[in-house]
Amino acid sequence: MQINLCNSKKCCNFAAEMNKKVVILAIESSCDDTSAAVIVDGILRSNVIASQKVHEEFGGVVPELASRAHQQNILPVVDTALKRAGVTKDELSAIAFTRGPGLLGSLLVGTSFAKGLALSLGIPLIDVNHLQGHVLAHFVEDGTGLKHPEFPFLCLLVSGGNSQIVLVRAYNNMEIIGQTIDDAAGEAFDKCAKVLGLPYPGGPWIDKLAKLGDPTKYPFAKPNIPAYDYSFSGLKTSFLYTLRDMLKAHGVETIDELAQNVPNLREDMCASLQATVVDILMRKLKKAAKDLGVNQVAVAGGVSANSALRQAFLDYGQKYHWTVFIPPFSFTTDNAAMVCQAGYFKYLDSDFCAIDEVPFAKTTI
Ligand code: KG4
Repeated sequence: MQINLCNSKKCCNFAAEMNKKVVILAIESSCDDTSAAVIVDGILRSNVIASQKVHEEFGGVVPELASRAHQQNILPVVDTALKRAGVTKDELSAIAFTRGPGLLGSLLVGTSFAKGLALSLGIPLIDVNHLQGHVLAHFVEDGTGLKHPEFPFLCLLVSGGNSQIVLVRAYNNMEIIGQTIDDAAGEAFDKCAKVLGLPYPGGPWIDKLAKLGDPTKYPFAKPNIPAYDYSFSGLKTSFLYTLRDMLKAHGVETIDELAQNVPNLREDMCASLQATVVDILMRKLKKAAKDLGVNQVAVAGGVSANSALRQAFLDYGQKYHWTVFIPPFSFTTDNAAMVCQAGYFKYLDSDFCAIDEVPFAKTTI
């Protein structure tokens, strides 16, 4: 059965509504953060995030536990977002939700909640691609005077599940011109951190320890992949083999034993890994910017919190005359503010979705 909410009476009155406030509630539940945000007339009024600590002891996100935690969190998170924004649910113009990519069970919680609320209020539903949300985080008006890129710009989108170079021609016109053919950059950080015995997620730990290490100590393998695509599986193997060879050379079996024999082991391994990942990411981005003649360059996604990557953006910007856009930390990891921004743009385009649209686990932009 095809029921399209945007064909409902309320939506037919959309044009008439244009004189009213546009109030968008967004819900993000693609992985292990339950988040809700509200934008009123283009201004972010609230962005509430409940992170799930339950996964830490397992060294990675456990999908079933993530879905259950979303079920528990979603009502209080949405309620808090509305209260902080100073709006009631009856004032909402539309509800945006992350449709994918992500963990299906997690997405189902946010999707079902959004559908139920939109149906009960008789307002349009807006589906948002999580990756487009990350890119559009650069347009959030949060009152801090964030600079917005001009079109066209390049966005390096780096997270736990993605490493892509996106050519952004407009809010609703994006093309992936390069992407990883195997692991994502965040995945490489997390997996290597696990080998070193660091907690999950490992990316922030690598960043922290790298500050105390020598980035040139261990020369890891770099991929040789054509065009603008990435690969991180060879680097991961190179990292693993370096440790394996050192364990053998020192006649020990565990990383803790090795660390007693090799001063600054973890710090130097982290610094060398981080420097290699940043170099791989930036070289391809530089090539894309040069080939396409684009000098507005942005970074987005969880790995954009990495201090060396942020510094590399500033350095490349200065050296190659780019205008660079680095998101505030609050918009690097998963958050509903970015979904709300994407939803707001879609609302202005009257780009709504049907009530029977289903979430998707994998997709491109
Ligand atoms: O975008 P995100 O929150 O989730 C998705 O994958 O959608 O990204 C999470 C990734 C994890 O791999 C995490 O280790 C990484 O971002 N990350 C970092 C840092 N902070 C988070 N990686 C390196 N340095 C950081 N400071």
